[in-house]
Amino acid sequence: MPKVRFKSPLDDVEVEVPEGTTLLEAAELCGAKLGHACGGVCACSTCHVWVKSGLSSLSEQEDAELDRLDQAFDVRPSSRLGCQARVGSEDVEVWITDESLSAYLDENPPLRRRLEAEGRWPGPGKR
Ligand code: FES
Repeated sequence: MPKVRFKSPLDDVEVEVPEGTTLLEAAELCGAKLGHACGGVCACSTCHVWVKSGLSSLSEQEDAELDRLDQAFDVRPSSRLGCQARVGSEDVEVWITDESLSAYLDENPPLRRRLEAEGRWPGPGKR
């Protein structure tokens, strides 16, 4: 089974998943801090990631994902929405964007307060 690795200032975790698993499902399996404000229905952009390796093995982007990414911050050629991109046969490494990490911390205020108190989360765009 392919492996998915998630990296961010707060994450460096990896999980093996069956082909066809979305990146968001993989994140939930391994506890990666990937935001998902709309619950994975392509109605926000808080699951935005940059794919560092394995981009070509992911599922094709549908128009809905491209339209939603138009509203995301700091979109790059390697950008995908975690709830829409499905893993293929290759290993994948993704970087969780500031936008996504911030959304995750919005959904987990006790963790945000603890990280801010420890100086480990200065806020989006400040690292
Ligand atoms: S979780 Fe909202 S678009 Fe992916």
